[in-house]
Amino acid sequence: MKKIVVAIDGHSSCGKSTMAKALARTVGYIYVDTGAMYRVVTLYALRNHLIENGKIYDFALQQHIECCRVKVSFQLDPETNLPLACLNGEVVEDEIRGMEVSNNVSPIAALPFVRKFLVAQQQAMGKEKGIVMDGRDIGTVVFPDAELKVFITASAEIRAQRRYDELVAKGEKDVDYDEILKNVIERDQIDSTREVSPLRQAEDAVVLDNSNCTREEQNAWLLEKFNAVVNA
Ligand code: DC
Repeated sequence: MKKIVVAIDGHSSCGKSTMAKALARTVGYIYVDTGAMYRVVTLYALRNHLIENGKIYDFALQQHIECCRVKVSFQLDPETNLPLACLNGEVVEDEIRGMEVSNNVSPIAALPFVRKFLVAQQQAMGKEKGIVMDGRDIGTVVFPDAELKVFITASAEIRAQRRYDELVAKGEKDVDYDEILKNVIERDQIDSTREVSPLRQAEDAVVLDNSNCTREEQNAWLLEKFNAVVNA
């Protein structure tokens, strides 16, 4: 069976990664969460005081990246076989999902030199195909020739509720729904209006609004699209 690249883009917290992971598992493809890569760079910047009170020391961050001090990679979790995001070899999967990183990641993802650094890695990962990658610019910039492009969306309120439930389930304390909703709306705004690679639907993407879909329904929808392409 021919191997393809599956590019999944869409708004934050609309279940892209859940769908992407499920498809990758079912069809035996590698899964790459590119949002995690932007989060890892953000964590590096926070830990090294290159962001303070929302101010980014972008010149310094660029130097750290150019001097190869920021290594973003994935390690496979031996139990789940899913990739865990790493910063300089350390698994940081939990830390990158917390509110501090979430509140600072969009401006970091808007920096052209950060995008150039991460897009090059993403393109190298997809060279052999057999990959499901999710993000914001996968079908438009990273893999404009992807055989299957999917654009996912859902209402801001539903996305905020999903993120709230996820954080509560992880045991995170002081989780506030209104703060999360504000963060979701703000991130949509920054992601869609930034100058470099703004979030937009590729012209040839198939679109799913999953506001009222169950996980099973959305997984079945994606698998059907995948099968239609590989069997064509
Ligand atoms: O999908 P996520 O919420 O983990 O993404 C984190 C941030 O990174 C979000 O602000 C969008 C940005 N991002 C991006 O600009 N390009 C990507 N390919 C993936 C994520």
